[in-house]
Amino acid sequence: MGDILSISGLMPYLSDVGYANKIYIYESLGSTNTTLKEMAETGHGHGTVVISDSQTSGRGRYGRSFYSPSGGLYISFLLRRESLKLPEITMITALAAVMVCRAVKKVIGKESLIKWVNDILLDDKKVCGILTETVNDSIVLGIGINISAEFPDNLNKVAASISPGADASVRNRIAAELINVFLSPDTDFNNDEIYKEYKKRLTLLGKKIVVSQADTQYEAVALDIDKTYRLIIKKTDGTVEALLSGEVSVRV
Ligand code: BTN
Repeated sequence: MGDILSISGLMPYLSDVGYANKIYIYESLGSTNTTLKEMAETGHGHGTVVISDSQTSGRGRYGRSFYSPSGGLYISFLLRRESLKLPEITMITALAAVMVCRAVKKVIGKESLIKWVNDILLDDKKVCGILTETVNDSIVLGIGINISAEFPDNLNKVAASISPGADASVRNRIAAELINVFLSPDTDFNNDEIYKEYKKRLTLLGKKIVVSQADTQYEAVALDIDKTYRLIIKKTDGTVEALLSGEVSVRV
């Protein structure tokens, strides 16, 4: 099977051939999230998927850019809240992180870790980022996975690809794994196994961390993760807090 992103390349790995009607594949886009948000506004519904071989303005969290050269997997899902078995929509990013780790394990056999909330790491380097946004009553879940590209010098200390020189079908198989999970009406995101797995894959627990929120930075210890995927931290003054968002790094 070729590495060309195409419906026929995905088809052998989709659990339901009907999903193909909802998948839009491009050679290059500014951002799959941006295109999907526009599509949501013109009537596309739950389960619409946009994939691109490259992005010219890939977006990350906090207004950052996401390096998106040709050969990566840039995929966005339009998800309607009421169509997902999910009580808290704020949890979707964390759940997506587990689903990416599972897909990577299944397709290339490697175990990846999660840096709260949603960066996926292999050998301490970021291989995937996730950006969740809302449009009207829906969610746009955007996942960017570095599949095989080389990284420029300014990034290659912190970022890497999951499978440099990847086997031709890796990208299609990972895309299909994610599509099967997010489009299946049977996926139960409340499953306790997902929570346990997220916690097991988390890199931070028990470590001293630096939390960055808006304009402030402070030190803390990462104690635990609660069932809604908030990070429980203990600050230096002894107070314990549950963080819903923010950026954390291990204190060195
Ligand atoms: C991050 O690391 O801060 C999140 C990066 C999210 C990148 C993905 S790639 C597919 C989708 N389209 C975008 O423009 N961003 C997300």
